[in-house]
Amino acid sequence: MAQLRAFESAERTGATIPEIVCFEKQSDWGGQWNYTWRTGLDEYGEPVHSSMYRNLWSNGPKEGLEFADYTFDEHFGHPISSYPPRSVLWDYIAGRLERTDVRKHIRFETVVRMVVFDEERREFSVTSEHLPTGETRTEVFDHVVVASGHFSFPFTPDVPGIETFPGYITHAHDFRGAEALEGSDVLVIGSSYSAEDIGSQAHKMGAKSVTASYRSAPMGYDWPDGFEERPRIEGIEGDRVFFADGTSKRVDAIIFCTGYLHKYPFLPDDLALSGPNTVYPDGLYRGVVWQRNPALFYVGAQDQWFTFNMFDVQAWYVRDLVLGVAQMPDEDSRAESIAHWRQRFSEIDGVSEEIVFQGEYVRDLMLQTDYPEFDVEEVVKVFIAWKTDKQQDIMGYRDQSYRSVMTGTLAVKHHTPWMDELDDSLEHYLSGYRLAELVPSGGSGG
Ligand SMILES: Cc1cc2nc3c(=O)[nH]c(=O)nc-3n(C[C@H](O)[C@H](O)[C@H](O)COP(=O)(O)OP(=O)(O)OC[C@H]3O[C@@H](n4cnc5c(N)ncnc54)[C@H](O)[C@@H]3O)c2cc1C
Ligand SMILES: NC(=O)c1ccc[n+]([C@@H]2O[C@H](COP(=O)([O-])OP(=O)(O)OC[C@H]3O[C@@H](n4cnc5c(N)ncnc54)[C@H](OP(=O)(O)O)[C@@H]3O)[C@@H](O)[C@H]2O)c1
Repeated sequence: MAQLRAFESAERTGATIPEIVCFEKQSDWGGQWNYTWRTGLDEYGEPVHSSMYRNLWSNGPKEGLEFADYTFDEHFGHPISSYPPRSVLWDYIAGRLERTDVRKHIRFETVVRMVVFDEERREFSVTSEHLPTGETRTEVFDHVVVASGHFSFPFTPDVPGIETFPGYITHAHDFRGAEALEGSDVLVIGSSYSAEDIGSQAHKMGAKSVTASYRSAPMGYDWPDGFEERPRIEGIEGDRVFFADGTSKRVDAIIFCTGYLHKYPFLPDDLALSGPNTVYPDGLYRGVVWQRNPALFYVGAQDQWFTFNMFDVQAWYVRDLVLGVAQMPDEDSRAESIAHWRQRFSEIDGVSEEIVFQGEYVRDLMLQTDYPEFDVEEVVKVFIAWKTDKQQDIMGYRDQSYRSVMTGTLAVKHHTPWMDELDDSLEHYLSGYRLAELVPSGGSGG
């Protein structure tokens, strides 16, 4: 979506843009934000893409992800809270594109099956399949932008004895809601965002207990009663789980929150990014240009603090490289740049420094393009304040408000504390806001 918007913005200012085809295997846009009840394979036997669940609310303040060229104020016409639910964010990202004609570039329900680069002709052959009809086509392109996300192919490690577990087992990718966990003893494996949020969902929906098992380090929040962290799992016997500290616990449900694989089944190995989920993946110049073949780009391939606005600056930069507005450095210069940024990244210690680093990365890209400039350092401050709020109240941080870096608008408080809010529909959310507008905001952030 960012890439389409980037080209469209250049076209509006008079640039001639190339022919663009966007292949999208789902029936609508929105990527992860396009919720589906399905899990596993979809109606065409295709792996389900989205990992989102009912009742998913943004886990970072919206002031951190706001587009510089399309603000929340512009979309909603009045202030909203800092942590909207999925449906509201989907509405926001879709709203930006609905004001354009970029839909004409998209082939929905069309999955890319194979991309091959012809060294002699210096062009890509892209084979795609229209899922409803099964029709396949191979077409030729000068450039390919991979924007297929990297939170859709679950990584699920084996656990000794898990085959004897009689309860419910799933991965975060297939988790669709915690209501069924009411009254259950729940184990989440992992210590990152999925473990934190799915564990919190289970607690919110009335799980009897939540146990989070960490591999490297605990999340360390001041968890409510009934929510605890334990170290690595040594094994499972029936419904009892044994941890590395010698303790054990009986559980009813196990949810692997063990992350995702960089998997691009449509790319040969010399074009496919692999490796861990990291803020500065190897092999990508300025985080977007595939070093081994600079006609191939990735957007959104890194681990993310910044999201939507970072995808934008990446897409604007990729667009300028494709249009020749920005110069592609030679192979050695690109390699030097990758080594420099990766060296800096390796010296980072802790989450706050990672956020600052990603802010510097975003700023560096923004300076290369005409993406509307915004105060990246202020966004970094929003993220750091968010981290502090979480440390203070992990179940209540979503009730805090921040000021938009783009418009200066202070978010209003949501009418219902997150812990008590069970309706995540757009209609309920917005009707609440129209009422809330009449009451002076008690916002605390900014
Ligand atoms: C559960 C979850 C919750 C998140 N919550 C937040 C949040 O609260 N705030 C935040 O800022 N970020 C959040 N994120 C981060 C998330 O990565 C981004 O918000 C964003 O959706 C990523 O955008 P993307 O375009 O890179 O990938 P995606 O949103 O994954 O979109 C990729 C698109 O590519 C399509 N596709 C994939 N393969 C093919 C193929 N072979 N052929 C054709 N089309 C294909 C997919 O159908 C999809 O539409 C969350 C991520 C997850 C997994
Ligand atoms: N509400 C929301 O908005 C929401 C909710 C969920 C997810 N998300 C988003 O989804 C994305 C992915 O987050 P994620 O948490 O799924 O993935 P992630 O950030 O990549 O974290 C993976 C976790 O799995 C652990 N792990 C990996 N292998 C393991 C093993 N063998 N045994 C035990 N633990 C293991 C890792 O532990 P180590 O630390 O030891 O490596 C890490 O804690 C993020 O962008 C996040 O923001 C958002």
